[in-house]
This record gives sequence, C-alpha cells and structure tokens, in this order.
Amino acid sequence: MTTKKRNLFVTTALPYANGAFHMGHIMEYIQADIWVRHERMCGNAVHFVGADDAHGAPIMIAAQKKGITPQQFVAEIAAGRKEYLDGFHIEFDHWHCTDSPENTELSQDIYKRLKAAGLIYTKEIEQFYDTAKGMFLADRFIKGTCPKCGAEDQYGDSCEKCGAVYSPTELIDPKSALSGTTPVMKTSTHYFFKLSDPKAVQFLKEWTVGNGADGLPRVQSEVLAKDEEWLAEGNLNDWDISRDAPYFGIEIPDAPGKYFYVWLDAPIGYLASFKGYCAKKGLDFEAELTREDTEQIHFIGKDIIYFHTLFWPAMLHFAGKPFRVPDHVNVHGFMTVNGAKMSKSRGTGISPLDYLKLGMNAEWLRYYLAAKLNSCVEDVDFTKTAFEARVNSDLIGKYVNIASRAAGFIFKRFEGRVSDEAMKDAVIETLREAAPEIQDAYEKREYARAVRRIMELADVVNEFVDREKPWELAKDAARAADLQRVASVALEGFRLLTLYLKPVLPATAKRVEAFLNCGELMWDSVATPLSSANPINKYEHLMGRVDRVKQLDALLPEVAPEAPASQPKAEKPAKPAKAAAPAKNVDPDAPGGQKIADVCTIDDFVKVDLRVARIVKCEEVEGSDKLLRLELDLAEGRTRQVFSGIKAWYKPEDLVGRLVVMIANLAPRKMRFGVSEGMVLAASNAADKNAVYLIEPFEGAQPGMRLS
Ligand code: 2FM
Ligand code: ZN
Repeated sequence: MTTKKRNLFVTTALPYANGAFHMGHIMEYIQADIWVRHERMCGNAVHFVGADDAHGAPIMIAAQKKGITPQQFVAEIAAGRKEYLDGFHIEFDHWHCTDSPENTELSQDIYKRLKAAGLIYTKEIEQFYDTAKGMFLADRFIKGTCPKCGAEDQYGDSCEKCGAVYSPTELIDPKSALSGTTPVMKTSTHYFFKLSDPKAVQFLKEWTVGNGADGLPRVQSEVLAKDEEWLAEGNLNDWDISRDAPYFGIEIPDAPGKYFYVWLDAPIGYLASFKGYCAKKGLDFEAELTREDTEQIHFIGKDIIYFHTLFWPAMLHFAGKPFRVPDHVNVHGFMTVNGAKMSKSRGTGISPLDYLKLGMNAEWLRYYLAAKLNSCVEDVDFTKTAFEARVNSDLIGKYVNIASRAAGFIFKRFEGRVSDEAMKDAVIETLREAAPEIQDAYEKREYARAVRRIMELADVVNEFVDREKPWELAKDAARAADLQRVASVALEGFRLLTLYLKPVLPATAKRVEAFLNCGELMWDSVATPLSSANPINKYEHLMGRVDRVKQLDALLPEVAPEAPASQPKAEKPAKPAKAAAPAKNVDPDAPGGQKIADVCTIDDFVKVDLRVARIVKCEEVEGSDKLLRLELDLAEGRTRQVFSGIKAWYKPEDLVGRLVVMIANLAPRKMRFGVSEGMVLAASNAADKNAVYLIEPFEGAQPGMRLS
C-alpha cells in the first residue's frame, strides 16, 4: 500500500435533473462514498463532487409542460437532493449544475480546443422532424426497433437491451414520442467529433489498456472487453455533438441556433463542479487539476460506459492541459429486486424516501450494499430475506452485540477504564493483523470481501467472549481482573471492528468514537488501542433490528414471498389459493400435517440428485390453470424445462432470477404441454394445501451446486 498521500478528484455520474433520485443513484453514491471515506481514513485528500445534469430536450419539454422555465424546473429538482444525500450519509463536498457559467465556459473552451486539433467537422444530415410540434426530435423522443438486436421500443440514441449506440435514423419504424406521428426527414447542419480519426482510435486503444496513477488498470476487464469491441476496426462512429434550437443547452461558439448535445457538456459538468468547489474552497482549479499527485476517478453505471471510456477520455486528451484523462472509470451493475429489474408498476421499485420514512436505518442499506458490492460489473440484488439476515444476524447479532456485552462491565465496575495489559491479547492481534487485507479490499472496491473478513473477525471476538464468559466472572469478586481483561479485549475488538466498518457505517462509527472516547478512527489508529488513560463513556443503544413485517414488507409489499430465513414465520400466499383436492395421509397432529416417512438410508438419499437451479424464464401454460413452465439453469450449458403446479401461488415475473432446488435426475416426464425434465421443490402443510412455498437456498448458493 502506497504511503504517499494522494489528491483525489472523485465523481459520480451526474443525474438528470428531471426527477428525484432512485435507488440506482443511491447505490452508486453509497459505493463512491464508501471509497471516499476509506481514502480519507488513509489520510488522502479527496474532493468528491456531483452535479445535476440539467440540459437536453426532455427537461426542456417537462418544464414547458409545467409552464415554468427549464432553470426553474432544474432548481426545484435540485432543492430536493439534500434530503436523500443527508439521509443516506452521502457526503459530497460540492453539488453543482451543468447549467452554470463554469460549465458553459469549460464546454466552449474544450470544444474550441478540439476544433483546433482538427477533430470537429460539420455535415448536413437528415434528421427527424416532428411537423406537429415544429421541432427536430431529440433522440429520446424517437422510439423504434433497435437496428442491431431487433429489440422493440428503444430510444433513438442507444439500445437498453444490447447497449448499441446508433443514430436515430437507423431505428426501424420510428415514431415521435411527443406527438405519436411518424416524423419526416429534414436537413440540418450538424457538428461532429471525429472519434474515428486514427489518432483518436490509437489514443483510446492505449488509454483503455493503461493503468491509473495507482498502478491499477484504468477500467475493469469487462469494460475493457466492451471497449475493445467498440474499438475494433470500423466499429467507432463519429459523434454528433450538436442539436438545433429550440434546445435547452449550451450554445456552440460561432454557430447560431446550434447547441451542444447534452452528453457533450454533461461530463464536462464534472470539471465545472470541481471548479465551483475550488472557488468555494479558495483553491486554484487549474493548479489542482494539473498537480502531479491528482487522480481523476469516476464512478458510473454500466449503461454509460461508451460515453465515459471513449468520448470522454478522447475529449480530455485532445483538449490538452490543464485537462487530464481519467485515472479510473469504475463501473457498477444495476440494483435488482429478487433478481429482476426494479419496476414501479410491478411494485418491485424501492423508493429511497419511503425507505427512510419507514424508519429504516440508512446504514443498514449501506451495509447491505457493501456486503454485495465487488469490483466487477455485476448487478446487486436486493431480497428481503438477505437484507434481514445481513442486518439482524451480522450487524446486530455479531457486531453491535459485542459492545452491548462488554461495555457495561468496564463502565460500571472499572470506572470506564480498560486494562492496558489486555491490549496485548492474541485476539486483538488477530484483528489488527487483518487491517492491511481489509484496507486493500476497500481500495479495490471489493467491499464484499472486506465485509466478509470483518464478520469473520467479529466471530473471533464473539467466540472469545463465549469462551471466557464475563457474566460468570462478574459473579466472583476475586476474578475482577479477569473480568476487566475479557471485557477490555472485547471492547478493543469492537473498536477495531468499528474502524474497519467506518467507511460503511459513518454515523455509527462517530457515535462509537464518542462512546469509546478513542478519538477519530483512521487507518493508522489500528495500532493505538484503547487506554486506561481515556475512560469510556456509558454505552448507549447503537442500532436496532429491522422489522420484517413493519418495514421490509411495507417497503416492498408486492414482492412475492420468499423462503423464510431467520424468522420462520409463514407468509400469505401471493394469490388466493384455488380449492385443493383432499390431501392423502394427512395427520393434523404431525409436523407439517404428515407423519415423518419411514427410515431411509443414506444410500437411498443419494439416489436423489438435488441441485440448485436458477429460474431464467417462467411463463403461464396455455390451457392449464395449475402449471407454470419454468426454464431452469443448472450450469449445464443449456436450460431445462420443468412444469410445476405452482400457478396458484406465484406470478411468473416474480420468479425469474430466483434460485430454487430441483431434482435433477428425475426421469423426464412427457406431459400434454411438453417434456418436464425434473421437479422443483416446494414446502406445504399436508393438512392445508392452500399455501405452497418454493424452497430457495441461502445466499451464496450457485446454480449447479448439489445438495447433500
Ligand atoms: O445517464 C445519466 O443519468 C446521465 N445524466 C449521466 C451523465 S454522467 C456525466 F457525464 F455527467
Ligand atoms: Zn439492441
């Protein structure tokens, strides 16, 4: 780990100023905020800035609809940001707006430099024009079929399904989203950035495979693979950077009636925000940018890789000093709920404000996301069961529990003084030794790895307490020294765990710092244990448990029931049950309404090959009121078709992405609707066939794994 201090300029993608934050934004900000807090704990300087992405036709049109100016519209949205950011402990140093003097000046300057570098040219293009509305249509206001993959209902600039970027005229069967009419073609002069120029291509080929100042690859391997595809011979298109009036944007110098396309000035908004921040702080913007120790780091989602790893570095590189190319573009996946994309209409969207209004602790979510996030471009799934387990078992059961078990003894029996001798205990040494590993995981954005290790260490402390039984020691006055030693070790363990969790749990860490009277926890305070010279204060309740019913079910009422984990409480079936045939072998007094079956041997058991499988597709079966058709992935390189009589209890869309357990070696069965290649397992009470519950493995299980 480098000891040289760094000067980090960190951004998150600028949200469009046409709506409130959604959970996707919050996840990205939390990911970046954790990293920023970790860097600050290393003693590095961090300038963490954000801004509203204000320009473009959608905002102009939304403002028109409301009868206000786009500036007023954007200001209203901006005014609502703080509640979210404060609510989730996301601490930007500065929040700016792309509709600002700084951004106008920087965008026009960068454009002029690119023009001087011979990378701008004009071309007459035929563009869609909505005669009913009297305007050229922005890409977002044309919808049609993707020319690359054939996905329907895609916007005019890029395909959400395959990620292709194209020009709207390439869309198949285009329609104006404003008037519904078929747009006509009209000619207009457009300005282009020549990304296909051999020098741009050459630069990008080098930039994408290079390293940041920290010596780590600039982009993740999945991102590089995408870039290489785009950079391959002939795949890189020049970029249309102009839009015709009327448009809410920045005017192109010496081009009356022409504006920069919003995506040109949006990333420049990072610099505009940094400039605004420097002015606020009394820093010299250009000097800060060009400092040798400065690193420029962007956090973004996987949908905007093209803009950030091709256009953006090329613009910066060819604009020249003081601009600098990004050291890293860190890309994350999307947040899903039960394996499916969040959707308001299906009731699987999580509103960040609802979350807070339900009294749910922001740090629960920060912890949950940290426990899931790694440095890959992977989606992060939210399930109630996993959330409940993370909060109640990990945070409360393993972490907070340590303080509540140990603090009282030290505070009441020893005037708040720990035993200094106890600080040499092997348990503490084990915790201390893990610091570099945890630091490294945060540094590389492998938060899940950090959290896993921290919880292993929490287990070490809890096992120590269980072994030493301070509650027993407390009964025997002669063993006071032992009691002090044990409680001191536990408390120092708790201090270290708090330090390790501080990037994730900043508010809790602050309260712990006050309670332990240990000063501000930084990475270099690992080696400075609690001391008898600084007595601890009274322990105050740190964090409560999440309530499955009052909070999680209220947050996501529509989401189908899951296999219960830590709370084996029956949930209502998603749909009212159909009348069931009288069950055989029912014994209402037996567990589950049925006597335990005859003894079987392990040899009998192993004949049944039970595997974890993921439901990749699920649909109703025409002509059947009982069956759903599932396509299951067992990591065999193909999927299997299984018909399951669960239609009364589950909606197909709620099952896609979920894991189940299936019998993988059941003889295939030919049914009226096709062959069923296995059976998924579900639980029910033999005396009450009105509720059936699919069996879902605990988190971490992967398709193909065998049950034993
Ligand atoms: O996709 C989006 O939400 C854009 N507003 C992100 C812009 S990021 C940067 F370029 F400003
Ligand atoms: Zn497509």
